[in-house]
Amino acid sequence: MSETVRIGVSLGMGLLDDFDRLLKKLGYANRSEALRDLIRRKLAEEQWEAPGGDVFAAVFLVYDHHKMSVGARLVDMQHESLARVIGSFHVHMADDLCLEVVVMHGEGAELRDLASRMISLKGVQYGKLNMGISSEMGH
Ligand code: NI
Repeated sequence: MSETVRIGVSLGMGLLDDFDRLLKKLGYANRSEALRDLIRRKLAEEQWEAPGGDVFAAVFLVYDHHKMSVGARLVDMQHESLARVIGSFHVHMADDLCLEVVVMHGEGAELRDLASRMISLKGVQYGKLNMGISSEMGH
């Protein structure tokens, strides 16, 4: 871990009150930890968009496996993108519904494109991409 430095931040009282209310709601123990998380999130978002970026992400997909061979199509898409797809986790949610979490690694724009193609497949009832962190953001 790198050296810790103390900084001062000037804020209007209204903004500080709103911030404190949010911290309490989210369960933060103190302002420093919340500010660190906000800064990390902005840095990660910048990294997602960088050409040549190195990002981990997961896409959540819910589909009815009885319909339109969507499960087989999703498997095909993952095999076609071996370089980006690390693996997947499949949960049988109900008699007909499946949840699949596909974990990916690569350039942010490529992962966003691959996730969009999976989410927009006919038969996928819910899909959400969660862009994770860059491998350079470990501290
Ligand atoms: Ni299933």
